[in-house]
Amino acid sequence: MIALCEKVYPESRPWTEAQLASHLAVFPEGQMVVEEIATGRLVGMASSLVLRWDDYDFHADWKAWTAGGFFTNHDPVSGRTLYGAEVMVDPEMQRRGIGKRLYAARRALVRQFGLRRIRAGARLRGYHRHAAKLTPGQYVERVVAGELRDPTLSFQLREGFRVIAVVPSYLANDPESLGHAVVIEWLNPDFESGGAGGSGGADREGKQPSASTALATTRLTRRRADAGRRALR
Ligand SMILES: CC(C)(COP(=O)(O)OP(=O)(O)OC[C@H]1O[C@@H](n2cnc3c(N)ncnc32)[C@H](O)[C@@H]1OP(=O)(O)O)[C@@H](O)C(=O)NCCC(=O)NCCS
Repeated sequence: MIALCEKVYPESRPWTEAQLASHLAVFPEGQMVVEEIATGRLVGMASSLVLRWDDYDFHADWKAWTAGGFFTNHDPVSGRTLYGAEVMVDPEMQRRGIGKRLYAARRALVRQFGLRRIRAGARLRGYHRHAAKLTPGQYVERVVAGELRDPTLSFQLREGFRVIAVVPSYLANDPESLGHAVVIEWLNPDFESGGAGGSGGADREGKQPSASTALATTRLTRRRADAGRRALR
C-alpha cells in the first residue's frame, strides 16, 4: 500500500506502517483494497472512518479530519458520517472501473451501517492549470457545470456526489491543488433519522458551511441545477 501511495503521489509523504495498522485496528470494515487476481498486486485502495461531523469545522484540514492520519477519532457510537480519507488507483490501472468499484463498496458500507452520508475532502487536482485566471470557487463552478474537467472532482460528481463547500488550506504543499479542496457529499437514500442509525441525537443535520463558504455553496448549487442535465450524465 505504501508503494502504491508513492506511485500515485510521488511528491507527497506516503502513509506510514503505523498509520495503516491504526486504520485496521480502529475500523477494519472501512479499509478496502482491490487486488489483481492474476498477480496478487494491490491496484487500488479506499480508507474511511466514521465521524460526528458537528465536532469539526468546515475549514479544518486533512490532519484534523483524520487525527493526523491515524483515524483514532473514529466515532462509531455517535458518528453518522462516513469520512472518505483516501481513494487511489494505480495510475497504470486507472479508467478501468476500479475507482467505481471502490465508491460502490463505500456506498454499500454506509447502507450496511445505517449511516446518513459520505463526506470527503476532494483536492482540486486540476486547479494549478487555471490558478492564474480563476479563483478556486470559480474553478469548481466550471467543473460542476461541466465546462472544465478535473481529474478527480469530475469523476466524483459522476459518482453521485455534490459539492457542499470550497475549503482553502486543506492539504499543505500539494502542487496540483495548491492546497485547495472541496467538501463533497453523497446522501444515503435509505437513511432513517428515527431508526437505529439515526438515534442518539448526534450529527443529525450536520453543521452547515460558514458564511464565506456558504456563499460559494449557494452559487454552486444553483449553477449546477441550471446546468445539471446538460453537463452531468
Ligand atoms: C480518482 C480515481 C480514484 C479514479 O479511479 P479510476 O479507477 O480511474 O476510476 P474509474 O475507472 O472507475 O473511472 C474513471 C473514469 O474512467 C471511465 N472508465 C471506467 N472504465 C473505463 C473503461 N473500461 N474504459 C474507458 N473509460 C473507463 C469512467 O467512466 C470514469 O470517467 P469520468 O471520470 O469521466 O467519470 C483515480 O483517478 C486516482 O487514483 N486518482 C489519483 C488519486 C486521487 O486523486 N484520489 C482522490 C483523492 S481526493
